[in-house]
Amino acid sequence: MTSEQTTLAQASQAVTEKLNLFSPLKIRDITLRNRIGVSPMCQYSSVDGFADDWHLVHLGSRAVGGAGLVICEATGVEAIGRITPDDLGIYKDEHIEMLKRITTFIEQFGAVPGIQLAHAGRKASTLSPWKAESRHAKVDLTREQGGWEVVGPSPVPFNPEWAKPHELSIPEIKEIQEKFRIATQRAIKAGFKWLELHAAHGYLLNSFYSPLANFRTDEYGGSFENRIRFVVETASLLRKEWPAEYPMSVRISATDWVEGGWTIDDSVELSKILKAEGVDVIDCSSGSVRSGDRYPYAPGFQVPLAEKVRAEANIKTAAVGLITEPLQANEIIQKEQADIVLLAREMMRDPYWPLRAAQALNLPTTVALPRRYSYAL
Ligand SMILES: Cc1cc2nc3c(=O)[nH]c(=O)nc-3n(C[C@H](O)[C@H](O)[C@H](O)COP(=O)(O)O)c2cc1C
Repeated sequence: MTSEQTTLAQASQAVTEKLNLFSPLKIRDITLRNRIGVSPMCQYSSVDGFADDWHLVHLGSRAVGGAGLVICEATGVEAIGRITPDDLGIYKDEHIEMLKRITTFIEQFGAVPGIQLAHAGRKASTLSPWKAESRHAKVDLTREQGGWEVVGPSPVPFNPEWAKPHELSIPEIKEIQEKFRIATQRAIKAGFKWLELHAAHGYLLNSFYSPLANFRTDEYGGSFENRIRFVVETASLLRKEWPAEYPMSVRISATDWVEGGWTIDDSVELSKILKAEGVDVIDCSSGSVRSGDRYPYAPGFQVPLAEKVRAEANIKTAAVGLITEPLQANEIIQKEQADIVLLAREMMRDPYWPLRAAQALNLPTTVALPRRYSYAL
């Protein structure tokens, strides 16, 4: 731990005899100073995959704001694995330098820097949402607009109006796994201490395990065992590459919320298998495999997913999705529904959300702020 982390962890330990949002969490050799994480959030602000000062300030300010874990946005392991041409990437050695600057800053201010390694599969090659006319319209890009051929388990697009994906052959699957492996090596060099494998939201790995997107008849399709093969093999490969002292999580879409789709019981079974491969945390999100599918969107709606996976697969979980209130977040931890709460949009609204949470829980600001701020507040 850095000296800043040690001070903050000691401060929180001193005031938190009972398990709560500010209890430190040790996984392998890494200690989060509290249970608050910044959920990965694409910024669509890169040129050729490079991070820049925007990413430094966006992520760095949330470390200064007191989060225990700051997970960098979905980061493409290859150029065609980016959701948009503006996504962050880690497909070149040259990407490492700026990422290293960012991880150094995050750690210096007491948070653990995480990276989410991703491949967007058949949902790649779209227009950055903040550049679109409507925030709800996902626009796939033509070649003339800078788009590319997308890949997936089967030649069935995410949205019927989009171009058909190229059905990956088994050698092509292995090539992508190798790209994940090389990206992991780069992530180590860039100083990340937490690795998250993105296997949610209909992106490549999710599209293989969900029966709504995978219509293959080979060893990567059909039965549950075949559909999960891509994600399990990839997680296993990365766990071997990733240092044993650092934690690894996998973000899953824990249910498709659709009749005939992936279920929470499937997620429990998958989580048991991922645990046996050395995965430490299952980050339980949901949905987004098919355009137009609906889900029961309400405060904390995905928390029961994290709770069930935690209880039945006996693995640590992260809860995410419409967690906005300090007491709500604290209750999730105290009731042991999850081990970590991840916040996305609320952290966009307020990078100092952990400070607000500390105040709401009547804890001293030292648990959530760097010393150079907290002495004055
Ligand atoms: C702007 C934005 C970008 C996002 N990018 C990612 C991403 O890169 N990877 C990911 O797994 N989820 C991504 N998400 C989903 C969030 O991590 C989170 O799961 C979701 O927003 C629900 O949490 P919230 O209610 O706290 O916002 C993104 C969400 C937003 C709002």
